[in-house]
Amino acid sequence: MNFLSKQEQLIKKSINELGYNVDEVLLIPSSRKEFGDYQYNGVMSIAKQMHKNPREIALDIIEKLKENKDLVNVNVQGPGFINLSFSDEALVNYLNEVKDNININYEYDNKKTIFLDYGGANVAKTLHVGHLRSANIGEALKRLAEALGNKTISDVHLGDWGRPLGLVILEISKRQPDLCYFDDNYIGHYPEKSPVTNEDLMEIYPTASIKAKEDENYLEEARIVTKKLQEGHKGYNELWKQIIKVSSEDIKKIYTKLNTTFDLWEGESDCYKSIPEMLEYINTLNITKKSEGAVVIDVKKEDDEIEYPPFMLIKSNGGASYQTTDLAAIFQRVKNYNPDEIWYVADNRQALHFETVFRAAKLTKIATDVELVFAGFGTMNGSDGKPFKTRDGGVMSLNNLIDLVKIESEKKLLPNIIEDRDEVAQCVAISAIKYADLIPFRTTDYVFDPVKFSDLNGKTGPYLLYSTIRMKSLLANAKKENIKYNNVEMIDDNTKEIVLNLLNINKVLIKSFNTKSLNEITDLLYKITNSYNNFYSQVRILTEDNEKIRSSWLAITDIVYQNNVKLLNILGINVPERM
Ligand code: ARG
Repeated sequence: MNFLSKQEQLIKKSINELGYNVDEVLLIPSSRKEFGDYQYNGVMSIAKQMHKNPREIALDIIEKLKENKDLVNVNVQGPGFINLSFSDEALVNYLNEVKDNININYEYDNKKTIFLDYGGANVAKTLHVGHLRSANIGEALKRLAEALGNKTISDVHLGDWGRPLGLVILEISKRQPDLCYFDDNYIGHYPEKSPVTNEDLMEIYPTASIKAKEDENYLEEARIVTKKLQEGHKGYNELWKQIIKVSSEDIKKIYTKLNTTFDLWEGESDCYKSIPEMLEYINTLNITKKSEGAVVIDVKKEDDEIEYPPFMLIKSNGGASYQTTDLAAIFQRVKNYNPDEIWYVADNRQALHFETVFRAAKLTKIATDVELVFAGFGTMNGSDGKPFKTRDGGVMSLNNLIDLVKIESEKKLLPNIIEDRDEVAQCVAISAIKYADLIPFRTTDYVFDPVKFSDLNGKTGPYLLYSTIRMKSLLANAKKENIKYNNVEMIDDNTKEIVLNLLNINKVLIKSFNTKSLNEITDLLYKITNSYNNFYSQVRILTEDNEKIRSSWLAITDIVYQNNVKLLNILGINVPERM
């Protein structure tokens, strides 16, 4: 158990031994450091329960707490607020424990198997700003879950099976009608090579999409192609495979840039395959009803504040809906992976969709022992407060967006970074984008600002990278000059704040895991780094004469460095060698 939780347990035990009934003791960082580093504010409720004077109880408790040698300066303020600090010795012990095994900051008892559905890119379309947050937040949540010892399975869940694919196939058939895919009598092998490149697709889909809006007949043709594709038309399916292949290769490249990886590259098309089996099962339940030609499941609840639309199982045209696909996905995932939880990281605007799917999954008992979680996120806006767009009002591709930040990041690099300048700029830009993306609470909107995100000063990714690299080079210089360090032997006013920040890591990680938001991790990283930088600017570490002090400072630097790298890694951010 982490140091803080262990101390809280000990305090709880002491309080219980005095005959006071508390279920939990929470130490919170004190706002008035002159009274102590931590506060315990639970005495008020004990006093209320027992109809006694809180101050008397508090005085009683602090006498008992004084027996704990790890605590110092235990005192009561006001009507009964307990303040305390940890002894330097206890803190030094903690530091040395972390130094030898950083994992004690990453302990978690309640390990689970978590299936994560994020990314959600759509095949044959450009990845855009909307897919950025899903990648950033999803990847970080996956890494956080893993860092705490959970097992994860991640799926990109490509949008690869709807009308857009029908449109693309139709448009290709208009341009290259002689391709074998469109010859219903074709019996030979289908070519290895795709008739279209990804660049072609980037033009074909928008063109087809506009045509469908303007021309009713074209739209009808696209409907027919989509239907035939979904019913197994051989040629269409062979062409579809090629489209998926070239498009996925491009999608993978962008996710790789964003340090985002998936165990599974499945998509809506894979879920589609289990729809018949699922429908057969649902039909045994007597739970569906007909509504205007469609088959639906009523998912209303008595205390709903909004009018819940029914779950659309089969559309009136006989097709499966987006909801059906997601229900089939749960059906499959439960069967194949038996996870404890399934997390969906998607735009807040999909909240109703997922709630409807989750309700249907519970009603049909497709998901019984699995917790379904929608981790929705807010929008990335432009400076006008509206969803971020290109200058001419279009959708900005993720590649272009990354490049905008890369241009700013490159300006901040040292001039002597020459050969790998592009690579380093890219790495710093990704830190800028990701860190800024994870600062607000997950559901909150924020404004895209490449200049601010890339600033070397302030709460930014580049600031954290720069500071962390500096720690590393300090340690490297110590090594070069043969300055050895071992354990932390003492802490002082300069380093105390760093230690108090480090103590919070475990709690912050567990809280972030529970709320599925990374904002507290970004805050803590900033606090740890700031407290280290304050210390760094106050002292001269390598030239410090007192060996005990110098060695302790270096050991603390090492601990902060290791933790920063690990926390940044959870956020999906790599630390370059130099910048
Ligand atoms: N492809 C969808 C989109 O671009 C997101 C998919 C979200 N995940 C899911 N299981 N429905 O909006």
